[in-house]
Amino acid sequence: MCGIVGYIGDGHAVPILIDSLRMLEYRGYDSAGVTVFNGSLETYKIAGRIKELENIIPENTKGSIGIGHTRWATHGKPETKNAHPHISSGISVVHNGIIENYLELKERLTDLGYEFQSDTDTEVIAHLLHFNMNGNSNNSLLDGLAETVKELKGSYAIAALYDKEPGIMAFARKDSPLVVGLGNGSNYTASDVTALLKHTKKVIFINDDEIGLVKPETVEIYDLEGHTISRDPETIEWTLEAAEKAGYEHFMLKEIHEQPTSIQDTFAGKLSELEGTVTLKELYLKPEEIKRLRRATIIACGTSWNAGILGKYLFEKLAGIHTDVETASEFRYSNPVLCGEELTIAITQSGETADTLAAVRSSSSYGCRSIAITNVVGSTITRESDSVLYTRAGPEIGVAATKTFTAQLIALYMLAINLGRARGVISANEAKDLIVGIKRLPGQIQKILNRKEAIKECAIQFAESRDYFFIGRYLNFPVALEGALKLKEISYIHAEGYAAGELKHGPLALITEETPVVAIATKGHTYEKILSNIKEVKARDATVIAVADDDDTEIEKYVDVVLRVPSSHELLSPVLSSVVLQLLSYYTALAKGCSIDKPRNLAKSVTVE
Ligand code: G6P
Repeated sequence: MCGIVGYIGDGHAVPILIDSLRMLEYRGYDSAGVTVFNGSLETYKIAGRIKELENIIPENTKGSIGIGHTRWATHGKPETKNAHPHISSGISVVHNGIIENYLELKERLTDLGYEFQSDTDTEVIAHLLHFNMNGNSNNSLLDGLAETVKELKGSYAIAALYDKEPGIMAFARKDSPLVVGLGNGSNYTASDVTALLKHTKKVIFINDDEIGLVKPETVEIYDLEGHTISRDPETIEWTLEAAEKAGYEHFMLKEIHEQPTSIQDTFAGKLSELEGTVTLKELYLKPEEIKRLRRATIIACGTSWNAGILGKYLFEKLAGIHTDVETASEFRYSNPVLCGEELTIAITQSGETADTLAAVRSSSSYGCRSIAITNVVGSTITRESDSVLYTRAGPEIGVAATKTFTAQLIALYMLAINLGRARGVISANEAKDLIVGIKRLPGQIQKILNRKEAIKECAIQFAESRDYFFIGRYLNFPVALEGALKLKEISYIHAEGYAAGELKHGPLALITEETPVVAIATKGHTYEKILSNIKEVKARDATVIAVADDDDTEIEKYVDVVLRVPSSHELLSPVLSSVVLQLLSYYTALAKGCSIDKPRNLAKSVTVE
């Protein structure tokens, strides 16, 4: 998705902007551009990669103020004319989000004589800003921007420069993330803290309906009525090293290998084996509220939604709470029947997914209590929810979620155990067994990583397949869904995740000897059932790859390839099986020469509908 960077200070703007844009490449983009104030505003943009943008900027381009953008096309094709910044004589604007009333504004501005160069919605912001500053009255950039955003419908994070006020950069935000970075004699804007890690750890998160000015030494924030807002900066814990590849061929491989640590960091300090308790200080729910809970609704998209399905099984089994799992994009336009004694749990690694945010806002309007599970401190979801449970996975750069997914699973185990103990559904001993099991997971994942060669061999063997099926039952159903999603995201192989018992109601018709079927067959109370499903597909000549426990000596009789996981508590095995399937996807995509960290058409953080 689109990325914004801005710089104002005493340094050389171009390399700082380019470097910061590079840090945002992982979000997915198709074009890029910068404006630098070099006596006047100079703008360079291109439909292509940051490297190509760098090549078209003359080497001697000076200037210590600039804004930059990576665009992910929504309105208008990925062409140079549609890349940001967009210009209206002396004004330069970069924008993330979608302006819903842009056609109406475009018509009005065209009637006023403005000529449009692009097919984007963003260009109306530049011209409207120009009109509100020059055409209308003699407004300053800040006043002009305040008037402009009042006329915009939709979502925006905006950074703007004006050649007649060269010492300032203006910004505004609604429903699209924006952060200001504080340096020494230099300040920054960005849509994502990752862009700032090289320069500063001190940041101020901008809220909805706020606008302001960034100057080299100061930052001013206002509400739309012009009242000053004062906000203390926060310190980002993420390190630059964590956002770099550290010798791995791809971010995705690095992030898969980080899971022993990211899981450990997520549960650190929260589990008491002795008492069988999970302490979640961040949960603002009183014991009587927990006891009264009648239902939970999990809202999420993509990989986070798959984590949510496991969450449903955990909340129902461990906490006795009826749980529904909704895709946020559907939920927001449905007619949910919700009431105050219900809980909404939003799962979103980025904390910025537009559909998830909108769905949570809609559930809050029914009076539901809400918990967010997210990986990004200060992200928008943290301000929309009553309680925030952070996963501590560190920055995830690969578009395909891996370590944030397993960290979400850990957060869900912890939440389910905590609620289950508070409601008296599970005993201290049952909780202890799970806690011991959770603490063993980092070592068990390391074991899987140490023997990844077997997974690589299997991936290479089936890399040319046209279709893949992933099947699992109960707790392994979300593992199958996530396995299929990972494979299609990065290797472009058509893959379906299915509840194994449902195969015979349709998809079995697609199974041939050319179709590898991955069966998640770890030990548990559905083990015998999945064995029957394996026999069904074997009878249709499919090649079966099983994910099975180390101590399962029977499975080899029924399948073609076995990928092993250390034996664990039944409820916890999805974490281990998921790591195996992440590696299977990674090595398949590697064998096919795909763009692993930045798969085509996909974005890491989907901030538009
Ligand atoms: C995008 C990403 C997925 C992610 C989904 C939801 O599609 O590519 O990896 O699962 O968004 O993102 P969220 O940040 O809400 O978890």
